[in-house]
Amino acid sequence: MAELETERLVLRPLAGADWDDYAAMMAHPEVAAGLAEGVGRTRDDVWRNLAMFIGHREIRGYSHWALVEKATGAFVGRAGPWSPHGFPGLGVGWCLAREHWGKGYASEAARAALGYCFTELAAGEVVSLILPGNARSVAVAERIGHRHLRDTEYRGRRVHVYGQRRPG
Ligand SMILES: CC(C)(COP(=O)(O)OP(=O)(O)OC[C@H]1O[C@@H](n2cnc3c(N)ncnc32)[C@H](O)[C@@H]1OP(=O)(O)O)[C@@H](O)C(=O)NCCC(=O)NCCS
Repeated sequence: MAELETERLVLRPLAGADWDDYAAMMAHPEVAAGLAEGVGRTRDDVWRNLAMFIGHREIRGYSHWALVEKATGAFVGRAGPWSPHGFPGLGVGWCLAREHWGKGYASEAARAALGYCFTELAAGEVVSLILPGNARSVAVAERIGHRHLRDTEYRGRRVHVYGQRRPG
């Protein structure tokens, strides 16, 4: 899976070595609460969640990247294309460590991931599933050009489907 670079971030494959940073990110209750994919609160649950994102790359050939801040080398979060079994289409998702909210990093990474979906994965449509009430995530979706398409059930919960078709 290719690495990408944006103005302020490197997007590189998630790895086992990200475990400590990943666990710290997911330990924050505001982070875990926003995730439509859902994740339990124990460190065992979070380890399995990281393994799922790494394993998805093995199965699909793409997955969320680790987002690394160029200026510091810090692990900022994860974002990227996502299409596990049962997911309605090709998705793009985002998740940042709490201390990195409010810097524009999610939108910066999401724009790059969206472009990758259209150019490298030849997607006709890209969607993002967002839990009702996750206003920050809706704002990211709208910044990258997504619009609310419909609502659906995903993993036992009602979610908003945001998305957009390939330009042109
Ligand atoms: C959803 C989530 C990724 C949004 O993060 P975010 O930092 O709010 O989103 P962005 O990266 O787009 O940043 C936008 C904010 O950065 C600010 N900003 C600061 N510097 C900026 C810059 N140089 N460029 C752009 N925006 C900048 C913007 O003004 C905006 O601030 P505001 O929200 O106060 O209006 C984050 O809340 C999160 O990780 N939540 C938990 C996981 C989750 O819910 N994931 C989504 C599942 S669907």
